[in-house]
Amino acid sequence: MTQKTSTRLLMVCLGNICRSPTAEAVVKHKVRQLGLPYEVDSAGTHSYHKGKSPDPRSIDVGQARGYDFTGITSRRVQDQDFADFDLILAMDHDNLAELKTRCPAPFADKLRLFLADTGIPDAVVPDPYYGGLNGFERVLDLIEQGADTLLDRLATH
Ligand code: 4NP
Repeated sequence: MTQKTSTRLLMVCLGNICRSPTAEAVVKHKVRQLGLPYEVDSAGTHSYHKGKSPDPRSIDVGQARGYDFTGITSRRVQDQDFADFDLILAMDHDNLAELKTRCPAPFADKLRLFLADTGIPDAVVPDPYYGGLNGFERVLDLIEQGADTLLDRLATH
């Protein structure tokens, strides 16, 4: 990135096929609705599903609530992301710990849990991958709350 044009938000989970693409789609939707100057992307701490579209279960529950997953494909967090993004938002404590091991010290303040400040106990979006559809609904519920809190917080800080 050569020139900073807007606030850049990176959503991070393990595989970048369930939680963080959902967070990307939800936050993009709200940012568009509110006309905010934020860019939103997502990535995984691992590359198991590199190049793949989001999990069909995430797409199904997300589309049912009006979210658009077009153009989202899985990628791993890159070293350059720590410089390029303003906030790097982890879905759970493992994701956050992994980011902390990789993040250069000057950028450490950019890392936080996506659900921080929501008041949700433990502030974790749980990994739904090996569970049923209700887990994906729960992920979407949490991400909608997290997105609202995040955008409120950015508007007032
Ligand atoms: P995500 O979910 O981190 O929310 O994308 C997962 C996706 C894939 C795997 C685990 C979690 N996996 O083990 O392949």
